[in-house]
Amino acid sequence: MRKIALVNQKGGCGKTTTAINLASFLASEDKKVLLIDLDPQGHVKVGLSAKVDHTEKTIYEALLGEIPISEAIQTIDDNLDVVLSDVVLSAFEQVMAGGHEREYKLAQSLADIENNYDYLIIDSPPSVGLLTFNGLVAAEEVIIPVDPSFFSLHGLEKLLETIQIIKERVYHQLYIKILPTNIDRRTNFCKGVVESLRDRFSENCFETIINTSTKLREAASLGKAITDYEKNCAGYRDYQNLAIEILIEETEMKDRGFTIGSLLEAEGLLKSLVEREIVFRLEAPESAMVKIAGDFNKWVPESLDFTESQGRPLWHKTISLRQGSYEYKYMVDDLWTPDPLNDKTVEDSYGGVNSIISI
Ligand SMILES: Nc1ncnc2c1ncn2[C@@H]1O[C@H](COP(=O)(O)OP(=O)(O)OP(=O)(O)O)[C@@H](O)[C@H]1O
Ligand SMILES: [Mg+2]
Repeated sequence: MRKIALVNQKGGCGKTTTAINLASFLASEDKKVLLIDLDPQGHVKVGLSAKVDHTEKTIYEALLGEIPISEAIQTIDDNLDVVLSDVVLSAFEQVMAGGHEREYKLAQSLADIENNYDYLIIDSPPSVGLLTFNGLVAAEEVIIPVDPSFFSLHGLEKLLETIQIIKERVYHQLYIKILPTNIDRRTNFCKGVVESLRDRFSENCFETIINTSTKLREAASLGKAITDYEKNCAGYRDYQNLAIEILIEETEMKDRGFTIGSLLEAEGLLKSLVEREIVFRLEAPESAMVKIAGDFNKWVPESLDFTESQGRPLWHKTISLRQGSYEYKYMVDDLWTPDPLNDKTVEDSYGGVNSIISI
C-alpha cells in the first residue's frame, strides 16, 4: 500500500481538496483507496457530504484504541472507503498528553487493514501538532500543496525543517513532493511562484499544477468530488493529471523493479552501513507467544521465532538497528514485561519500566 499524507501547516492551501479529488481519481482508476481525515475541522465529511454517513464512528475512537479502525471505515464508492473525523478529535492532543507512543497511534491502528488497500490518503489539519505527526509517522510519502502566497513559501521552509526533525525522530524516510495549487496562470506572480518552486525543488515538484477552478469550489460546496460533478473543467483535468502522474511513478518504479518501499530502502542504503544486527533473546518455556515492541518498530508488536537451543526453549528475533538508544519491551502471551537479561531500564508512562538498549 502506498501511504500518502497531505501536509502543510498553512490553512486553505488545498490539502482537503487534493485529498478528496486525488482519492476519487485513484479509485476511478481501479485502485482500492482509503481516505482518512485527521483534521478536527472534519472537512472530508463536508466535502463528501453527498455520499458519507454522518452518524458513523470516527478516527478519534480508532486512534484511542476504543475500536479497530475497520469499524470506522465506510464505503462510499466501488473502490473508495473513508474514515471521517469531527470536532471531538481536537481533544486527542490533550487526552494523549505525555502518553506513551502517542505519535504512533495511526500507524498502529492501520496494521490490521494494511493489505486491504492500494492507496492510503491522509488529510491533515493546518498545524504541525500531534495529529499531523501521526499522519507523517504512518505515511511514506508526503504531498505538500502550496498555493501562491508569500506566507505559503515561508511556511514551506518551516515545514521542511519539521519534516527533517520527524525523519530523525521516527527513523523512516519520507518521500516529499510539492504540488502547486490554486494557480491563476494569467498572473505573473503565480507564474513566478511556480518557477521558484520548480527551481527550488526540481524533481520533488509535481509536473502537474492545480489551477484555480470555480468548479472545484462548487463541487466541494455540494459535497461532491469533481469526478461526480463536472468533467469539462480545469479542476477535473488537473486532478486527473495528478492521479496519472502518481500512477506513472508507480509503474516506472515497477518497470525498474522498484517499489516505493525499495526506493526508500535504497535511500536508506547508507544508513544500513552503520546498522548493526541485534539478536533479542528470551527464555519463556511455558509461553505460547512472545512478541517484541519498541521505538524501532513503532511499538507495533512483532513475533519472535521459537527454537530449542541445546535442549532449552528459546525465543529470538534479529533486528537491524543503527546508532541510538531504543526503549523496548516483550509481550509474553498477553503480558508486557521488560527484558530480564537487560538491567538497563527507564520508567514508562504507566508506572512500569521499559528496557533500554544503546547501540
Ligand atoms: N484549485 C482550486 N480552485 C479554486 N478553489 C479551490 C482550489 N483548491 C481549493 N479551493 C478552495 O479553497 C478553499 C480551501 O481549500 P481546502 O479546504 O482544500 O484547503 P485546506 O488546506 O484543506 O484548508 P485547511 O488548512 O483549513 O484544512 C476551499 O473553499 C476550496 O474549495
Ligand atoms: Mg483541510
